[in-house]
Amino acid sequence: LVASLEQVEQSYIMIKPDGVQRGLVGDIISRFEKKGFKLIGLKIFQCPKELAEEHYKDLQSKPFFPKLIEYITSGPVVCMAWEGVGVVASARKLIGATNPLQAEPGTIRGDLAVQTGRNVVHGSDSPENGKREIALWFEEGELVPWTPVQEPWLR
Ligand code: TYD
Repeated sequence: LVASLEQVEQSYIMIKPDGVQRGLVGDIISRFEKKGFKLIGLKIFQCPKELAEEHYKDLQSKPFFPKLIEYITSGPVVCMAWEGVGVVASARKLIGATNPLQAEPGTIRGDLAVQTGRNVVHGSDSPENGKREIALWFEEGELVPWTPVQEPWLR
């Protein structure tokens, strides 16, 4: 009841090239599905350098920025838009701390990653950035908001 009063948000979640190449796509998608969020955008995509730089523009001055851009553009990523109540903060919890050494077991990074520079997944850090990043990575026609049908699928 309380949750129903909270804001429906959208988060941009991205499986990074290591997650794709290590065969973790299904496991990662499954965690967001089972939690109860709604998938409204999904594609595999080779990210151009300019887009990676725009996505991470707040980190431009950091010493690790060039390596980060090299990593994100090193192979295809899986881009996702997820919708739900509190999905931005909830997805950050499911993902775990930036440094996989600090990420709790049970989180994606805690279970599946070792190094900060190879931490398999991205999740928006605020509802505003969720909107910004979804608009950056998806064309308008690629997003499909949907409502479940009322009839049972199995009988
Ligand atoms: P950041 O936005 O701080 O973390 P998060 O992905 O958890 O929101 O950083 C973005 C990415 O930059 C991070 O996932 C991995 C990379 N990174 C490094 O390679 N080295 C670092 O020291 C930090 C802080 C981040």
